[in-house]
Amino acid sequence: MRAYVAHTLPDCSPIVVCNRAPREPKPEGGFKRGAGGVITALLTLAEATEADWVAVARNEDERQLATSHDATVTVPLLNSTGQLHYAMPTKEQYEMYYGVFANPVLWFIQHYLWDLGNEPIIDDRIHQAWAEGYVEVNRLVAAKVVEVARKAPRRPLVLVHDYQLYLVPGLVRKALPGAMLQHFVHVPWPTPQYWKVLPKAMRDAILDGLLGCDIVGFQSSLDVRNFLLTCEENAGLQVDERERAVFYGGRVVYARHYPISIDVGTTSRLAASRGVKRQERDLASWRPPRLIARIDRTDPSKNIVRGFIAYDKLLRYHPELRGEVEFYAFLQPSRQDVAVYSRYLRQIRQTVGRINSDFGTETWTPVRLEIGESERKAVASLKNFDVLLVNPVYDGLNLVVKEGALVNATNGVIVLSENAGAHEELQAHVLSINPFDVEATAAALYAGLTMGLEERRRLNDGAREVVRANDITRWISRQVQDIRDLVATPAHAGREA
Ligand code: G6P
Repeated sequence: MRAYVAHTLPDCSPIVVCNRAPREPKPEGGFKRGAGGVITALLTLAEATEADWVAVARNEDERQLATSHDATVTVPLLNSTGQLHYAMPTKEQYEMYYGVFANPVLWFIQHYLWDLGNEPIIDDRIHQAWAEGYVEVNRLVAAKVVEVARKAPRRPLVLVHDYQLYLVPGLVRKALPGAMLQHFVHVPWPTPQYWKVLPKAMRDAILDGLLGCDIVGFQSSLDVRNFLLTCEENAGLQVDERERAVFYGGRVVYARHYPISIDVGTTSRLAASRGVKRQERDLASWRPPRLIARIDRTDPSKNIVRGFIAYDKLLRYHPELRGEVEFYAFLQPSRQDVAVYSRYLRQIRQTVGRINSDFGTETWTPVRLEIGESERKAVASLKNFDVLLVNPVYDGLNLVVKEGALVNATNGVIVLSENAGAHEELQAHVLSINPFDVEATAAALYAGLTMGLEERRRLNDGAREVVRANDITRWISRQVQDIRDLVATPAHAGREA
């Protein structure tokens, strides 16, 4: 994979740019993997393209590491090492950028999470977080990218990731007009109307930043259509829908969708590992006859509370399942320094507490809630579910569903929100639900638990085949192919950084 991609890339020096670093320093020394599925995918991307990596120093440990290494650190990737370059905002800048603006304002807009009758209130705090946090951190990251690119031996290929860094491509384009620039948006791109929650100056700056790219990548075809419409409606730009392109500042910017995926080989090897088998033995010691599982970050977009409400309904409508079924929710605490996230985690605990006290008996706990982080434990439960509940309000893609489809060994059925990006690829092999409709969700949970073996096997095999055929390699090679095609166009040929 590595040699293949590095050879097929045009002659360039790739730089991956992401809020998070591929590895984080452990307080006791050494590194651990950065959190979230996106990092797993980008590790494969950075390794396959032999890219440098620019990230933001997010906390004291990272600031110290960066300072002691003059901002450039050699870090382990998967099978090789890479050069990590840190942008270094102050603690206050980072807090405004991450804790006030990117999460929740942008994240909530892009997942349609605002209760618009009441929120957000775009007040001086948010204006300040935009100007002194988001804009400033994006500037620092862009400056670091330019510094790394200027030292690179070949023409830079800058691959920027996600909603935290929308302004970076525009800033890099100004400094390096001949660079090849791509931004991949991992989260949904909402409709032009919903973007209007943001003041015009902010949303125009976001478009201006993204349109510094040659290609903007999204998870689904709907995201691409929404993006083109946003450029047209909100910024009055000229758009070619057939070419899926925007004309901006005398350049053509293409919008494409590349649904992200998992590394089938690595995930399968992990699933067969001794560490996962140990976790499976532990799971087998308490596993009830029927197991519903969910693995998620504790994020309001994941719709965890409505999932429990649906389970409550299931137990009410089908008392015969009491004592027979258990709902295992293995949840990773997320963004706990952002108030709305810590509130959400409290709400999760309260809902579970209520269900367990309403239905629990001395010998049976309806919901087993575990808050923690363990890749092995997550994979062990994905191998063993009867039903996997993935019911996000909206989700860019959702990699857990792909991991579950690949590794499940118990003919488990996936109940999947029609608003997850992965639904576009997997809909024929899952039970689709409207994530707001808890009655439909309860019915789908029931259908999944009681479905005949043949039907379960058909869905399970079908979902696995889709994931096998659309491995992370395909996500990378499709993007590389588009970059090659672009470089071959007359407008690009001969451009120097
Ligand atoms: C989502 C986002 C990523 C982010 C991850 C973890 O997958 O799309 O950009 O890194 O969540 O969130 P965190 O805020 O902890 O980085």
